[in-house]
Amino acid sequence: MRIDIITVQPELLRSPFEHSIMQRAQQKGLLEVVVHDLREYGIGKHRMVDDYQFGGGAGMVMMPEPLANILDDLQAQRKYDEIIYLTPDGELLKQKRVNQLSLKENLILICGHYKGIDERIREHYVTLEISIGDYVLSGGELPAAVLVDAIGRLIPGGLGDETSALFDSFQDQLLAPPVYTRPAVFRGWAVPEILRSGNFPAIEEWRHQQAIERTRQRRPDLLDENDQS
Ligand code: ADE
Repeated sequence: MRIDIITVQPELLRSPFEHSIMQRAQQKGLLEVVVHDLREYGIGKHRMVDDYQFGGGAGMVMMPEPLANILDDLQAQRKYDEIIYLTPDGELLKQKRVNQLSLKENLILICGHYKGIDERIREHYVTLEISIGDYVLSGGELPAAVLVDAIGRLIPGGLGDETSALFDSFQDQLLAPPVYTRPAVFRGWAVPEILRSGNFPAIEEWRHQQAIERTRQRRPDLLDENDQS
């Protein structure tokens, strides 16, 4: 999979992809992340990428021309499955959407800044708008890094233990059960006996019950969503 990220702050996106799972996926050739500095497509001597809003009001807007030009260049090179704009008014990101995106070949992510991007780019180029939560960040770079991380760890062959992503919280609309490692007793706090019993069907059942109980207590809304699907 190839992910092209368009940003005015490329430095913000260097380090997140240079570590652990992301790095391994890239070294194995399973994932290629290409960061583009929008300023290279900026207008005039000052490489302008933003301008005042029509109608007045505080805050700059990212101009359509640099974005349209870089998007045209990228689309001339390969076919993209989605052109995604990270924005607080987009679809709230859930695991189901991450799963879908992890099966795609080529994605473009556009990071907004200032007041956002000119609406005409959203209308004519963007195919999907994603928010990573109901709060406003200063730009789309961190949301883009979140999205690439969530997708990258699902790419087959990328994750260290291939099966572990399947048991994540949210994969089955349940939160993950509690986990323990050695020592079996730490400061007098013992690991639940069942986990040391060697009875694997019973352990599976215990984990499932714990997952349901944890979800009921912390995120009952997820159980309701289950009923509806
Ligand atoms: N840009 C600014 N805030 C954002 C958010 N919550 N999600 C996605 N993109 C954003």
